Amino acid sequence: MFDLKLYLNDKRRMIDAALGRILAIAPHSRIVDAMRYSLMSGGKRLRPVLCLAACEAVGSEADQALPVAGALEMIHTYSLIHDDLPAMDDDCLRRGRPTCHIAFDEATAVLAGDALLTLAFETLSCRSMRHNVPAELWLDIIAVISTAAGYKGMVEGQMRDMLAEQQSEGLPLADLQALHLLKTGALIEASVCSGAMMGQGSLDQITSLKVYAKNIGLAFQVADDILNVEGDPVIMGKEIGTDRNRCKMTYPALLGIDQSKAVASRLVSEAVASLALFDHRAEPLRAIAEYVIRRNR
Ligand code: IPE
Ligand code: IPE
Ligand code: MG
Ligand code: MG
Repeated sequence: MFDLKLYLNDKRRMIDAALGRILAIAPHSRIVDAMRYSLMSGGKRLRPVLCLAACEAVGSEADQALPVAGALEMIHTYSLIHDDLPAMDDDCLRRGRPTCHIAFDEATAVLAGDALLTLAFETLSCRSMRHNVPAELWLDIIAVISTAAGYKGMVEGQMRDMLAEQQSEGLPLADLQALHLLKTGALIEASVCSGAMMGQGSLDQITSLKVYAKNIGLAFQVADDILNVEGDPVIMGKEIGTDRNRCKMTYPALLGIDQSKAVASRLVSEAVASLALFDHRAEPLRAIAEYVIRRNR
């Protein structure tokens, strides 16, 4: 019987060790301290775990995708540092600790985010990380990740999230769904796709994995919205009620809690169904889909 807890612990250890090795060679400086503070602070590591799990699902070893997984976590952490800034969500607590701009200062937090984003691409293009993977494939992976992180993906989603705060009449559900798919779904989809690409997955496999990732990406943000209403801030390591205070457009605000939970479960069922052509090696992906909405942090 597949044990998700063991699997997550094992993969998180691999990811933390890889990130630790990359930071260990950085010189001691204030900016590196701030980068390390946010990166090594006990996030769930969902995106890099998904990358490794997708690599395994297509039949390869997780190790193969480890540099890509590390880069994805750097991009995600940068997005959180900037998301928490006073100019954006203005949050003081993240991963159970003061946010980067509180622990350091705003300028340092902006720069730490910038530095993590660029370090991700330095890592992806670094010769020693490239193993025996063809350069063409690396370039395709860099294209997938950079597109998902930028103005066609996460950054556009964050922009829409900020604009929606000022719209007193709210958003139609289709627009909120598109916003969530961009701000959170895009990087999750890139995590799954890049892992499968590193594992040399077939076109059919990657097409199915994209459907999986879109569904869990949206479900993940719906669950985040729900936790912001009824989660335990101690377990989550971040404050709750903040979406309401900032008049954020969220699923619970639009549909209520019960309907939001129903939407999230439906998305997870669709995600699992999209893995029909995969064998037992996709068991971690199936279990992660359920975890995305059952998690308490
Ligand atoms: C929080 O992401 C921001 C969202 C996109 C919802 P996570 O819930 O994955 O945060 P960490 O990495 O575990 O801290
Ligand atoms: C964060 O979304 C999305 C990104 C950082 C791209 P939220 O603002 O909803 O997430 P939390 O609740 O602060 O973690
Ligand atoms: Mg935000
Ligand atoms: Mg936020």
